[in-house]
Amino acid sequence: MRKFIIDTDTGSDDAIALIMALKSKEINIEAITTVCGNITLEQATLNALMTIEVTDTVKPPVFSGSSKPLKRKLETAEGVHGQDGMGGKGLIHPTLKKTGSNAVEKILSIVEENPGEIEIITIGPVTNLAQAILEAPETMKKVKHIYSMATGGFGPGNVTPVAEFNVYVDAEAFDIMLRSDIPITIAGFDICIGDAAFNEDEINFLRSSESSLARFAMDINSQKIEWNIKTYNRYAVNLPDPVAMAVALWDDIVIEKVEAHCHTCIKEEAAYGQVIVDTGKFGNKTEDFNAVVIKSIDADLYKKRLIKLLVD
Ligand code: BDR
Ligand code: CA
Repeated sequence: MRKFIIDTDTGSDDAIALIMALKSKEINIEAITTVCGNITLEQATLNALMTIEVTDTVKPPVFSGSSKPLKRKLETAEGVHGQDGMGGKGLIHPTLKKTGSNAVEKILSIVEENPGEIEIITIGPVTNLAQAILEAPETMKKVKHIYSMATGGFGPGNVTPVAEFNVYVDAEAFDIMLRSDIPITIAGFDICIGDAAFNEDEINFLRSSESSLARFAMDINSQKIEWNIKTYNRYAVNLPDPVAMAVALWDDIVIEKVEAHCHTCIKEEAAYGQVIVDTGKFGNKTEDFNAVVIKSIDADLYKKRLIKLLVD
């Protein structure tokens, strides 16, 4: 059985990624660790607990972690995800309680107890991970693999012209993770948009489903759907974190991936949070590869599986 830790700033698309993992019979979720990002740490933790409760399968322990980025002031994304990060519809009243407030310590102890076995999925800013790496770099080298929803991949950013949200919130942390020598696979924003976004028919199908879980998944993304219409003039919703979770769970959806040296820009304000993906193609690569970057996925297969999982 694969052993996962999921690190999340639980907003509306994180919640769907959590549902995917919570419904998977192939993995054991050792812990869900929360971090600030889309929303405050406290709200992200409530959102994760609510998602576990609504999914009603396994009940992994939830540990809250960092309430602010390593160096910068926190910038949240209520405009995209709603004032509670979950569509702003007043749906979030979990009865489950978190297990502790020591996410970093917990990540380290789980990795230490399961050397070479733990796979970490990061679907938010990676502040918790960076802190774990700074505190015990040798322990963190025992992580089997990190799957990370972060960067524009081979495309532009979604917060600034060059920076994607999860990196932009804490680029110093992302830089630390990339330098950690842990095997990393990056699912960037570019593979989560276009055909991978849910279109109007798919949204309506889920909204009118008999499955309360499918309706919950759409309700919490209602603000994101509105935001997509306003921003891209398209009735659709891109769900980056479920794509990253799918890459981790269902490797047959991956069509093309490449090794690259990924460099995080942290020094110049205009480029803050940009990740330069150097595949060596131009003959100017100066440093070793430190990540695998997904170039394309089978968007139809991914969406078909996710829809089935939500309605079944
Ligand atoms: C990422 O930023 C957040 O808004 C989403 O939850 C996702 O993790 C996409 O850039
Ligand atoms: Ca997220």
